[in-house]
Amino acid sequence: MPFLPAHAQAPERAPDTMAARVLACASCHGAQGEGTSDVYFPRLAGKPAGYLYNQLVAFRDGRRKYPPMNYLLEFLPDEYLKKMAEYFASLRPPFPETAIPTVSDAILARGESIVKHGDTQRGIPPCASCHGPSFGGMEPAIPGLLGLRASYISAQLGGWRYGTRTAAAPDCMQIVASLLTEDDVKAVAAYLSSRPAPADPSFAPQGSLPMPLACGSEPR
Ligand code: HEC
Ligand code: HEC
Repeated sequence: MPFLPAHAQAPERAPDTMAARVLACASCHGAQGEGTSDVYFPRLAGKPAGYLYNQLVAFRDGRRKYPPMNYLLEFLPDEYLKKMAEYFASLRPPFPETAIPTVSDAILARGESIVKHGDTQRGIPPCASCHGPSFGGMEPAIPGLLGLRASYISAQLGGWRYGTRTAAAPDCMQIVASLLTEDDVKAVAAYLSSRPAPADPSFAPQGSLPMPLACGSEPR
């Protein structure tokens, strides 16, 4: 066997681009972060970078639980997570078609009423007071509520109620979700998922919404 210098045998290495780093995410979140047909695999594209970053930190640190993601992100440094968050925030793949609701008009109307006006008797704040009047979200870390599927929304609200999803204190969504009944969750999920998402997200500027509780900033 002829002598070969060591470098000639070294395997070809893919360059460490962001596209290469996020290949591991594509099977569940789509090549452009657009989501996949699995209703529990969320879209990432176009969400506020600070919000995505907070989620990556929460998965890494075990505050938000989904074992495949907890495992993938373990040991990744903050700076690396921030770059991935910025990458997905910058993408704009098209949205899938809006779901046709499978619930009654009365349930949809109940959902609309909660998201726009809350329920003063039961102390439920309007979702719009933090997520914006057109539910587009607010900089830096409050996500929009459109373009999400009903099963995903219900699962997240359930996660806050049962403690598998938590955010850094004050965890407003934990407080809000604990005020909702199963029927409320079904109604808001059905209403929100039936609204078309804008092709290009526009976030309310930081501090511009009334927010009944202070939350939704970047932790560091
Ligand atoms: C095996 C499938 C799978 C893989 C691989 C995966 N994810 Fe996820 N991801 C999920 C699921 C499911 C959720 C929602 C979990 C939950 O219910 O809280 C999620 C949630 C997220 C969220 C929060 C989204 C939101 O709107 O709150 C972010 C951000 C995210 N993933 C980023 C990534 C990145 C970056 C990678 C690659 C490094 C990745 N994921 C790989 C399945 C996956
Ligand atoms: C006091 C402010 C506040 C109010 C009121 C509020 N939210 Fe939120 N919401 C937040 C913040 C902050 C986050 C981001 C939490 C995190 O980082 O995990 C969030 C995140 C969410 C998410 C996660 C989206 C995703 O992509 O995973 C859903 C779903 C949601 N809110 C639904 C609602 C609904 C429905 C209501 C009304 C019943 C509501 N929110 C009211 C502050 C609020």
